[in-house]
Amino acid sequence: MRKNIVVGNWKMNLQRKESLDLVGKVISLLENQDVEVVLAPSYTCLYKVNKMCADLSFIQTASQNISKNKKGAFTGEVSAEMIHSMGVKYTILGHSERREYFNESNQDLQMKVDLAISNDLDVIFCCGESLEHRDAGIHFDWIKSQIEESLFHLSEDEFSKIVIAYEPIWAIGTGVTASSPQAEEIHAFIRSVIFDKYGMNVSANCSVLYGGSCNPNNAKELFSNENIDGGLIGGASLDANSFVEIIKSF
Ligand code: 13P
Repeated sequence: MRKNIVVGNWKMNLQRKESLDLVGKVISLLENQDVEVVLAPSYTCLYKVNKMCADLSFIQTASQNISKNKKGAFTGEVSAEMIHSMGVKYTILGHSERREYFNESNQDLQMKVDLAISNDLDVIFCCGESLEHRDAGIHFDWIKSQIEESLFHLSEDEFSKIVIAYEPIWAIGTGVTASSPQAEEIHAFIRSVIFDKYGMNVSANCSVLYGGSCNPNNAKELFSNENIDGGLIGGASLDANSFVEIIKSF
């Protein structure tokens, strides 16, 4: 059975006190529920946020990135091993902002995926097309190659540590959400790509999340789709009430 997951990606937004206040509020509003909640604060708050959630089995944490290098003289970088050593369960990889502003290629991401898995981190792997790709009708091929080139070297066992997040770039931070049929079409496609490579067991058990202007008003409809197993939430995860409303949309 695949899991329903809602991830809050705080990006580079909150100071330490704001981060800790937000976690406290989210925890106070949540009860033990079936949805796995994942918080992705900045590196500077990750240790403390993880500690605050440590006794709550339904809340996990994620780093927003890891280095593509294992260890050594890489000033400013944070390794998969360091993230794992804090007890963090997940790392987000391949967010479109990292691909665009930090030139992360599918090959770079393959290296990061390998380091994450060998350090026992589960991966929330982001993919998604720009408006230009969609208008040109190449969005299916684009998404397929993002998944193939960064993930399809993995064994079946390793792939079970992957969560996919479909985030159309044109929907991120724009207030324009993919319609429910548009999102479901891509999610079903992603699952079929995984099925073709790994078969029914792996594809049926892989959680595929939607991200891009997801909010309390549209989450219920999006999450009601067969192939949408939750969300990767940006802006709306910065407000405890909105984030928890999204979680309770299941
Ligand atoms: P928004 O929810 O702000 O559109 O951001 C989505 C996102 O990029 C999450 O990773």
